[in-house]
This record gives sequence, C-alpha cells and structure tokens, in this order.
Amino acid sequence: MTPEENKQFNEYDFSSFYFGTDDGQFTIIDQFNAWHNEAIRLGYNQFSMPLTSAPLSVVKLIHPDFHTESELINLSSYNYLGIATRKEVIESAKEALDTYGLGASGSPILSGTFQIGVDFAKQLAAFKKKEAAIIFPTGYSTNLGFISAIMRPGDTILLDQFAHASIVDGAILSKAEIVYFKHNNSIDLEKKISKIKGRKLIVVEGVYSMDGDMCPLPSIVEVAKKYDSKILLDEAHSAFIFGEQGRGIAELFGLEDQIDFHMGTFSKSLGGIGGYICGSQEIINYANAYARSRFFSCNIPPAIFAGLSKGLQIAIEEPQLRSKIQNNFTLMKEKLIHYGIENITSQSQIIPVIIGDEDKTFFIAKKLLNEGIFVLPVVYPAVTKNKARLRVSISATLDESQIDFAAHKIASVIHDLK
Ligand SMILES: Cc1ncc(COP(=O)(O)O)c(C=O)c1O
Repeated sequence: MTPEENKQFNEYDFSSFYFGTDDGQFTIIDQFNAWHNEAIRLGYNQFSMPLTSAPLSVVKLIHPDFHTESELINLSSYNYLGIATRKEVIESAKEALDTYGLGASGSPILSGTFQIGVDFAKQLAAFKKKEAAIIFPTGYSTNLGFISAIMRPGDTILLDQFAHASIVDGAILSKAEIVYFKHNNSIDLEKKISKIKGRKLIVVEGVYSMDGDMCPLPSIVEVAKKYDSKILLDEAHSAFIFGEQGRGIAELFGLEDQIDFHMGTFSKSLGGIGGYICGSQEIINYANAYARSRFFSCNIPPAIFAGLSKGLQIAIEEPQLRSKIQNNFTLMKEKLIHYGIENITSQSQIIPVIIGDEDKTFFIAKKLLNEGIFVLPVVYPAVTKNKARLRVSISATLDESQIDFAAHKIASVIHDLK
C-alpha cells in the first residue's frame, strides 16, 4: 500500500472520534472501531509492537505483519544511558524482590512506604541539591498530582503550546485558568503574563519530547521573576543527561536556585518507573498532603526503588555515560545531515526527522522496520497536523557503526520516496 492509495483513510484521525455525529449512545465506539480495524488492515498499526528482548541498542520485537520475531537497531527507547539493563541495577532489584516481594501493597500515605523508598528520596534530593523530594508512581502522575495540588480556581497556569499531556491534564484538573504561549517564546510569554493578576505558575520542559529542543530557560526565568510567577521545570528528558553533574538544564544554565519546582521521571535515563518533584521541605509537605494521584495510588514497588537507587549511583559515578550519549546524538545528527537529511534542529538525544505528510511517515517507518531499524512514526495528536515525523531517540548503548548504518538507511528510504 503506497501513501497515495491511503488518502481516503487518512481523512480521519483520533480527533474525528472524540465527539459523536449522532445521538446514539456509544455508537462512536463502533465508528471508531471500523476506522481502527481499517487502519490495522492498511498497515498503520505501528504502535505498541510487543518487544521480546531488553531495550538495548538492538531490540527484538514481533513484526506486526509477519507475526515473527525481528531483530532491529533500536532508535525508539528511553533507556538513554543503558541503566535499565545494567547488571548491578538488576541484581539490586532482584535482591529487594527476595526481601520485599512483588509490590508495595499500599498507598504511600498508608502502608506502602518502605525505608528503601524513603532513603531513595533522600538520595535524590541530595543529588538535586534540594531540601526534599517526593516520589510519584509515574512521571505522568507527578505532573497530574503536583500541579493540581498547588494550583486552584482563580490562579493562572502558563503553558508552552507544546506542553506534555501530563502537564496539560494536571492544569485542567487544578481548574486554574490555562494560558498558552508560543513554543519556546519568552516574548509571547511576557505579552500574556503581563496582563494576568493573582497567583501564577509557568511550566516549561528542559527538552521537549517531540522536537528535542531545549527551553530558553534564562529568558523564561527573567519573565517569571519580573511578573512574580513560580516556575515548574519538567526535566523528563534532560535530567541525568545535561549539566556537568547531570542535574539537567537548570544546572546547564546555572539557574537551579531560580526554579521553584524541579520535576523529572525515572522512566527514561534511570530506566525504571516513577516521577519526582524536588524543592523546599514546605512544598514537599504540602504535596504529600494534597497530590491525589499519589495519595490514592499504590506506591512504587520496593524492588524498583532498589534498582533506581543503584541506577542513580551509576548516573552520578559514571559521567562518561553522559559524554557517550552526547557524542552519540551529535554523531547521529552529523550523519543524517551527511546523508542528505535537512532541517535537523534538535539539541538533544531526541532527533525528529520531519516528513510532514502522515501517509509518507507511516510508509517510511514501515519500510525501515523491514530493513532492520526500529524508529517510530509520530503523528497528530502527539504533534501538530502536517508535522508528522520519525522520532529518532538516541542512547549511550549505540555504537558508531549502528548509528552510521541507521542514518544511512533513514536517508535512503526517505530519498527513494521523493
Ligand atoms: C515531558 C514529559 N513529562 C512527563 C512525562 C511522563 O513521564 P512517564 O512516562 O515517566 O510517566 C513524559 C513522558 O514521556 C514527558 O515526555
């Protein structure tokens, strides 16, 4: 099936099935399924492919068309530093499994708090050079729970137009007013914030998850201070990678003390699961009492805390991992440009290769899958319409020849389609 043959199908996307077109209760579910099944038949089902190996530089997965196991170069993992699969991390988690069993079996506020988790929060706060840390089950629930805990109706939350869904959902849940500013544009932010009275929170991301660009933190901080706003910085994709000690872009820009709430996840560079806010003891006490996504949810299993603790130790003691990932993403960008790909603007390990057209993007990703490269298509609503892309995600576990091979393949599949 070529991109041209699929045009009719592509008049629809997920937004078409959000509201129904008739009064029938839940007929929208049948309409969605008719479209969804057609998507699978036409080969658009390139999401949620089941992996059958660890997410290393080479990964095994079940091919969606052939239903057989394929081995591919992995350009789609968040295991940025390779910590998810480090022997010491696995050993540490295994030991804790033997001691504590599978899960936490309780909310952190009731019976789900274990000493190992308390110690890890202290280890993290010390690493981030903050008074205290609070840990949530996921990065998503961190933004959801924390933003809705500290903001109220009548307050205003200023969001970058490309804000992650977890930030948007947290802001919606808080019932504060939401004001969007243009992506990475502090002039637009100032235009908007200058008209706002009352309590204000600006939320920005260290590295944006679909574009791989960094937030212009110095000018954002300047605006925040001028208009007396608090700042939450989400370092999901930048903590443990940027900054001399790996504390993220706040460290890189020398602005750690200017950020009120430092947010991040353990699902990416530390290769586990969970999220955090680091800040003053007072704010952590408050979040502990009001963040419902944590309060009313089971805690992270002790075995995961054990693995995270070892992973954090590795991230601290092995700065060469940060050098390796930085060398790798620089090399990938150079190679893509060398093989003729234009418009590479990423500043990080997330390198979008913009295709624009959704059909073409799916087609290219499928071809690459068949040629040994695991790189995922990203389309609306994850990115704006007509900005469909391959989202290349680089890790420290890739070697030079894998990067060269993958860049060459990506470029030749794209050029063949022109
Ligand atoms: C910027 C940002 N914040 C938060 C999250 C949620 O993190 P998690 O996947 O750990 O729930 C993500 C996930 O990709 C993200 O990109």
